[in-house]
Amino acid sequence: MAYKTIIEPFRIHSVEPLRLTTEEERRSALEDAGRNLFGLHAADVLIDLLTDSGTGAMSRDQWAAIQHGDESYAGSPSWYVFLEAVQELFPFRHVIPTHQGRAAEKILFTALGGPGKVVPNNTHFDTTRANVEFSGAEAVDLPIAAALHPSERHPFKGNVDLDALARLLEERAADVPVVMVTVTNNSGGGQPVSLGNLRGVRELCDRHGVPLFLDACRFAENAWFVHEREEGQARRSVKEIVREFASLADGMTMSAKKDPLANIGGWLACNDDALAARCRTLLVLTEGFPTYGGLAGRDLEAIAQGLREAVDHEYLRYRIRSTAYLGDALLRAGIPIVEPVGGHAVYLDARALLSHIPPLEYPGQVLACELYLAGGVRGCEIGTVMFGRHSDGSESPAAMDLVRLAIPRRTYTQSHIDYVIEVCEEVARRAPTLRGLRIVEEPETLRHFTARFASVPETG
Ligand code: F0G
Repeated sequence: MAYKTIIEPFRIHSVEPLRLTTEEERRSALEDAGRNLFGLHAADVLIDLLTDSGTGAMSRDQWAAIQHGDESYAGSPSWYVFLEAVQELFPFRHVIPTHQGRAAEKILFTALGGPGKVVPNNTHFDTTRANVEFSGAEAVDLPIAAALHPSERHPFKGNVDLDALARLLEERAADVPVVMVTVTNNSGGGQPVSLGNLRGVRELCDRHGVPLFLDACRFAENAWFVHEREEGQARRSVKEIVREFASLADGMTMSAKKDPLANIGGWLACNDDALAARCRTLLVLTEGFPTYGGLAGRDLEAIAQGLREAVDHEYLRYRIRSTAYLGDALLRAGIPIVEPVGGHAVYLDARALLSHIPPLEYPGQVLACELYLAGGVRGCEIGTVMFGRHSDGSESPAAMDLVRLAIPRRTYTQSHIDYVIEVCEEVARRAPTLRGLRIVEEPETLRHFTARFASVPETG
């Protein structure tokens, strides 16, 4: 008998208490934080959907692996356990461990970026874009057209626009040090990239002699979508699909805080000996010796075990279903979201829900604040606050104003998510009464982390 309920393929082994707060307490906490949810004390948050990064629950076997951690400075056995687990899925010649994904990006773009260069991607994540731009290079997003229309359904909405990439490479291949493809496309809604699309990118890169790197944080979720949705892939295992993704690329950057199910870690990998040598030199300056990078031996062990669990089909079936459960309920309630539902998160379309608030009054930030006020749910604006300020100092609306509700892995139960659904419904009822925000203080880059906001003055 095949039952229709997809259950968590685990049971709970250790619990963390949650603290309930009143709306008054939350209002005061949010004011103190300058209406920036990154400024909150996490103990004042009830359901924390700010990110799926490093916030998941580790398994019994990961905690056990931590006990095997060997803290030798050079050549630790834990390093070899890590290396073997990484190369089992991503058989690149060189693997360079870093403390998290952005450290890998910083090293890669220090080695390859610089003024006059241009780096295409389906959509750069904020730290990727910032690292490309910090090197003096230009970061260009080339998603397919459907990616910019939240309600348009496409099975592989993370795909790269191959025509646009072909044009860019024809005009400027000499300025392109690397083509990046982000799987799944986080900023574009956690949407997958198809194998067919990646093969197309590979062909273009070959034609122009440009290397292709994956930003592979959510590689297992992406491969599950390929397994489920791409013609001819259903009979293959996720592991096989992941290995084909790796075989199409020349290297990768990785955050082990996502699909590898760890709380910290990352790596940079490639096949190019000269590039690897340059990157290892940079690694020693900021991260550490090449057999530990920015990590303790115990972290390397936790990541290795996490990688084995990440490609398990029962886990991925549950993972993708539990995200869809939230998205489907919001759609039934008439709340606009990015469709189809992505892998690690549901993205609310704040621009559609709060259509009376112009993008430069940050509808995504308004919506994220109200979800916190109404129910202690913390999401994350992915819109004009995150992407609206440009390196030349100008400001313009981002392509979309979204609020991401990211689901930490193996952490919240279905009743937590039922509660989140109720809070979203309450906020949708309040939507017409909500007012825009203005920024009263912001740093030069990555302003979404520390900017402070106030209400726009009432007019009329
Ligand atoms: N690339 C992508 C696609 C990411 O989503 C992230 C992080 C990174 C790179 C950087 O990795 O955090 O280990 O330095 N994303 C987190 C998020 C922060 O909330 O989506 P990191």
